[in-house]
Amino acid sequence: MAEYTLSVNGQSHTVEAPPDMPLLWVLRDRLALTGTKFGCGQGLCGACTVHLGGEPVRSCVTPVGDVGTKRITTIEGLDPHGAHPLQKAWIETDVAQCGYCQTGQIMTAAALLAKHPKPTDRDIDQAMGENVCRCGTYLRIREAIHRAAG
Ligand code: FES
Repeated sequence: MAEYTLSVNGQSHTVEAPPDMPLLWVLRDRLALTGTKFGCGQGLCGACTVHLGGEPVRSCVTPVGDVGTKRITTIEGLDPHGAHPLQKAWIETDVAQCGYCQTGQIMTAAALLAKHPKPTDRDIDQAMGENVCRCGTYLRIREAIHRAAG
């Protein structure tokens, strides 16, 4: 067990955890931030995507001991009122089907828009290509990203 002070959604949190505990479980079980989802647990599906220092990472394979002082942003911190342009576009486009993977999809999309404010279809497909949606909402995800980009 070790003590970690993490910067999560602009707030400082001190937690006790083993260094190899995945960040996903620290967020969900220690900090009750359950918007970040467990899918495969092996870094393959993207359901657990959060931002670490602004970059999208798979929190299921990110040990808390490796986080250091990097800022962590989860879906709860993307916009305090749930009104991020992507969240609005997701609703307007009616993207979600079962919804399980969608927070990870939105976090990956947010990192894309931060780098490419006007992404092409190709940019979107490249950035989103490894986020799996078993309902197959890919075309609506692409449409919503274009909508959010304006
Ligand atoms: Fe982390 Fe699938 S749960 S990539």
